[in-house]
Amino acid sequence: MSLRNRLTDTFGITHPIVAAPMDYVSDARLASAVTQAGGLGLVGGGYGDEAWLAHQFAALTAAPVGCGFITWSLGHQPHLLDHVISHRPAAIFLSFGDPAPYARTIREAGIPLICQVHDITQARRAIEVGADVIAAQGGEAGGHGGGLRSTFTLVPEIADLLHATAPDVMLLAAGGITDGRTLAAALALGADGALVGTRFWASPEAAVSRAAQNHALAASGDDTIRQQVYDLIREKSWPPHYTGRVLNNDFLRRWHGHEIHLTHHLPHTRAQFNTALAAEDYQVANIIVGEGIGRITSIAPVATIITEMVTRATQILAPPEPRQYRP
Ligand SMILES: Cc1cc2nc3c(=O)[nH]c(=O)nc-3n(C[C@H](O)[C@H](O)[C@H](O)COP(=O)(O)O)c2cc1C
Repeated sequence: MSLRNRLTDTFGITHPIVAAPMDYVSDARLASAVTQAGGLGLVGGGYGDEAWLAHQFAALTAAPVGCGFITWSLGHQPHLLDHVISHRPAAIFLSFGDPAPYARTIREAGIPLICQVHDITQARRAIEVGADVIAAQGGEAGGHGGGLRSTFTLVPEIADLLHATAPDVMLLAAGGITDGRTLAAALALGADGALVGTRFWASPEAAVSRAAQNHALAASGDDTIRQQVYDLIREKSWPPHYTGRVLNNDFLRRWHGHEIHLTHHLPHTRAQFNTALAAEDYQVANIIVGEGIGRITSIAPVATIITEMVTRATQILAPPEPRQYRP
């Protein structure tokens, strides 16, 4: 049994696995590795850095590869959309903001549009603007999100919505998918595939320091927390309803819940953060991972991760052997 389906057919890939566009973590190396292993790699457009993006597209070693944007941030530099379209990505992934201002340009360029959503209202909006794929992100996911829904209920609810109103729109489940069991669950919940972030973050191909990865391997899902402290520290103007899931640490125990107080200490705390980042002191610097980190016990190559995920999911989803007839 193979996991090939309409998602793999549409993108010309082998496995229904899409790499999350994790800002600078998802550079050409990681995106190419995922595609090489049969998934769909995405370069992380993140907050938008034209020189970095040009460099990543030039450095790709596999195709197809798409690109993600943080939608509200794209609003500050809308020309980046044309820049990325000129590289003919396999998909453009918009997350965190209204996709409407960009959807038409993407669709007229003939590039599949993936919209990441966090609730039903956003899913309806994605359908309305003509998304080809919806990524339903539960609050257990690493990085930013809406935070209020879980993958386990959001995915089947959106699957039913799509089935009833937009059956051609495909669905990815995002948040907590780290292995074959969770991939099988995502497919069983009605998704066409999985959007995987944290599991690929813990690979040698990800643009992450090995010290950060080793630190995170010791964590359980309980050790992650949704917060806004690091957005204040990093001067990222996220709309207020978004929070980011990271590993909890001493810095967050001091400032989470005391953000107003923190704003009065920003020059000092920013300096402290930058020093910690350079020194790889993760009791102060941030590590962005989801609850799924609790089920990750090794830094494994992307190809190994994908093979194990697909092999196990296939076993789980395989129809049972017909019972032997015994007279
Ligand atoms: C390190 C990291 C960085 C992320 N950065 C982005 C980003 O720049 N843009 C985006 O749309 N999503 C980003 N995400 C969220 C992913 O799109 C995705 O929803 C999430 O990784 C899925 O959950 P998982 O981490 O449990 O696999 C990030 C996630 C992680 C772990």
